[in-house]
Amino acid sequence: MFKLNENYLKLPGSYLFSTIGKKVNAYSAAHPDKKVIRLGIGDVTQPLAPVIIEALHKAVDEMGHAETFHGYAPDLGYEFLRNAIAENDYKARDCSISADEIFVSDGAKCDSANIQEIFSLDNKIAVCDPVYPVYVDSNVMAGRTGTYDETTETWSDVIYMPCLEENGFAPKLPEKTPDLIYLCFPNNPTGAVLKKEQLQEWVDYANKVGAVILYDAAYEAYISEEDVPHSIYECQGAQTCAIELRSFSKNAGFTGVRLGFTVVPRELKCQGVSLHSLWARRHGTKYNGAPYIVQRAGEAVYSEAGKAQLKEQVAYYMKNARYILEGLKSAGYTVSGGVNAPYIWLKAPKGMTSWEFFDCLLEKANVVGTPGSGFGPSGETYFRLTGFGSYENTVEAVERIKALQL
Ligand SMILES: Cc1ncc(COP(=O)(O)O)c(C=O)c1O
Repeated sequence: MFKLNENYLKLPGSYLFSTIGKKVNAYSAAHPDKKVIRLGIGDVTQPLAPVIIEALHKAVDEMGHAETFHGYAPDLGYEFLRNAIAENDYKARDCSISADEIFVSDGAKCDSANIQEIFSLDNKIAVCDPVYPVYVDSNVMAGRTGTYDETTETWSDVIYMPCLEENGFAPKLPEKTPDLIYLCFPNNPTGAVLKKEQLQEWVDYANKVGAVILYDAAYEAYISEEDVPHSIYECQGAQTCAIELRSFSKNAGFTGVRLGFTVVPRELKCQGVSLHSLWARRHGTKYNGAPYIVQRAGEAVYSEAGKAQLKEQVAYYMKNARYILEGLKSAGYTVSGGVNAPYIWLKAPKGMTSWEFFDCLLEKANVVGTPGSGFGPSGETYFRLTGFGSYENTVEAVERIKALQL
């Protein structure tokens, strides 16, 4: 008789966005005349930039001829893409990361969920609270998180680092020593960032205690302030303690195209064994590469035309984010984020819980956001809105929320 991986049975509740989807569908079915504006899920809405479409078409045509056809991609990704990444994302920022330390994949969600596989089950993880749920859930599935406490909504073997208004939504160094530290900046869901000297403190700490930082920089393209690092490798010593995860989803609109990469520096070692060789082994065994067509589209992101067109796309979403931030601030809401990230994190008004505020906005303003509690207990009285909608819908949503006079 087969048995299940019981760790899966420990996963609590239903997935945040399916609960939201059900509530919104039920509301829309009961009120078909109402126009519901969705500023909840972090998916992009703008079409792919022309330069990307061109690259895709060209690569598709190549696949139609024997001389230019491409089958399985090289394990770590095509060199043309890895060279473009090394040059533009790292060398241009004085980070000494070479092309052979870059592993191309189909996105940061898979990589951020899978990376824990190369570490011992004894390792203790530390996460920010609130947090992108994938980091915790993938460790639950692996059996690394202990038991779940429904009252506190926390796992016994996870170190939670509260990110609240009083600490500027930046985690403090934990009291208990973790082995794996998940950091994501610019942050989803709070939109907060770490300045370079703050991130340097984490790098120094990780090197001191022998921990690895798993640094998710999926939103780096949204950074607008000078002293905010785009990569953890801008910090001294990060090569010996950090793995960086990147995505093409939010900087280039690839959520439906799928492309990302993970950087594992060769200097990052555990008792003489390089994590690079372990991840290469894992990648080679379990993954057969992002499509050639998509990697060519990824290369186009780094062309001069690509950079210009995508800068505009990011600016479009950031204009929305700014509109939400300024609009809600002027209406008396406590709001943050929205400057270096497409996310706006606001305090639910009048002492409401985050789900109470969700219901209130859905029913009274027909606006959908994401309840902060879905990202962890410290998100309980918070709410996330995103700049990923259309400008027109964003303006209308903000005006509707303002009109509620909460
Ligand atoms: C913090 C963070 N990391 C990773 C991802 C997923 O990225 P990808 O689309 O590359 O899988 C997301 C998507 O919302 C995210 O918010």
